[in-house]
Amino acid sequence: MNFDTIIKGGTIVTAADTFSADIGIRDGRIAALAESLEGAREIIDARGKLALPGGIDSHVHIAQPSGPGIVMADDFESCTRSAALGGNTMVLPFCLQETGEPLRRTVEAYAALAVGKCHVDVAFHLIIRDPTEAVLGQELPALVKDGYTSFKVFMTYDGLALTDLQILETMAVARETGALMMIHAENYDMIRFLTAKLERQGDTAPFFHAKSRPIPVEREATHRAITMAELSDVPIVVVHVSNREAMEEIRSAQRKGLKIRAETCPQYLVLTEDDLKGLNMEGAKYVCSPPPRDKASQAACWEGLQSGVFTLFSSDHCPFRYDDAQGKLTPKGRTSFRWVPNGIPGVAARLPILFSEGVGKGRIDLNTFVAVTSTNHAKTYGLYPRKGTIAVGADADIAIWDATKRMTITNANQGHGADYTPYEGIEVTGWPVLTMVRGRTVMRDGALVIDRPIGQRLQRALPAA
Ligand code: URP
Ligand code: ZN
Ligand code: ZN
Repeated sequence: MNFDTIIKGGTIVTAADTFSADIGIRDGRIAALAESLEGAREIIDARGKLALPGGIDSHVHIAQPSGPGIVMADDFESCTRSAALGGNTMVLPFCLQETGEPLRRTVEAYAALAVGKCHVDVAFHLIIRDPTEAVLGQELPALVKDGYTSFKVFMTYDGLALTDLQILETMAVARETGALMMIHAENYDMIRFLTAKLERQGDTAPFFHAKSRPIPVEREATHRAITMAELSDVPIVVVHVSNREAMEEIRSAQRKGLKIRAETCPQYLVLTEDDLKGLNMEGAKYVCSPPPRDKASQAACWEGLQSGVFTLFSSDHCPFRYDDAQGKLTPKGRTSFRWVPNGIPGVAARLPILFSEGVGKGRIDLNTFVAVTSTNHAKTYGLYPRKGTIAVGADADIAIWDATKRMTITNANQGHGADYTPYEGIEVTGWPVLTMVRGRTVMRDGALVIDRPIGQRLQRALPAA
């Protein structure tokens, strides 16, 4: 036998090309691409289907400590199951620094949660919440050397927000080590001021979450993050961008030649702040930060993807159960939006939504779809060319898509640990029907088809310059 598996007759799409070929897979890697291949133990018939690089979702939250009494709905098993159902072959969750604990110990404890649980490959970003001298001087540089080559910092959230000085000091480490910094850009004091004002007025329903962090909150912080990156001469990724004003800040920085990369997410393409207006606490199902905005902001996010201002399309999967005292309904027995845990599930919905709304409706082409959902994630976070493409030598991480399959997104087909999806009822055309991780088929026709999780945890190279 020449190969373990041959995927026959599919249309292969990469970030650059679209062509018909058979894919020969040996020892988990792509060994040959040719018009016609023979000789394999297993033949997968992909005639009439698309063969795409498996999705890489570089922004998911798994089993992340979320404050007293609040528990995230996904562990590594359920998040990676959901990822595989949604045509993904790799996810990058965040390891959150525990204040006062050596960073490496936190990473080891987090890594232990993943052992034997992952249906797709994983690699960790770090979240820096306490940039002490020891962390910045020794612990973080050592972890970067060991393959943890990106970290996120927050400009908002109690217990997470860094001061500008701390951000600059952390950027200096990124400059020295070559690691890539991801920034959550919202102005903390503006949010605190507006939240207190809304509560004084009795405006505590979930909808007022959106009113507590309007567009200027994000625009100002985005501008400040970019300015600090300019001063520090470091590339950054501005994550989960939601609107035109923030997008224009990024676009003008890119035009000046600054190394600013940016990401948007499905919630900013298909949800609006009106979704937070549900009866009683129903709106809590859509509480995330930045919040979904309006139709004009959706159009701006599409423009950002079309024009290349946004090179990354991630889910920001951050699931909490709704009908659960440890989730969104009555967090800590309280009902003000202030206490609703921020974040929504989306790892399984990300690709079908972009495929249907983007490719299907002619907003982006298939090659751009592959770039913003897979290839650019691999390049940005030090995984390319092993991941993110279909090429000889790359891992055989492949998703077979039926571009004509019509489906409705429901909580039942998401496979995550949350008890709802914010995308319930959205009708899509185009659906992943098979997910293969390093040559092993893990999902077929909406079900996991492997007897034990085979995902591995990977270390990463430094991001592409
Ligand atoms: O609301 C959100 N986005 N929660 C996840 C944490 C983050 O800021 O990415
Ligand atoms: Zn964030
Ligand atoms: Zn996030």
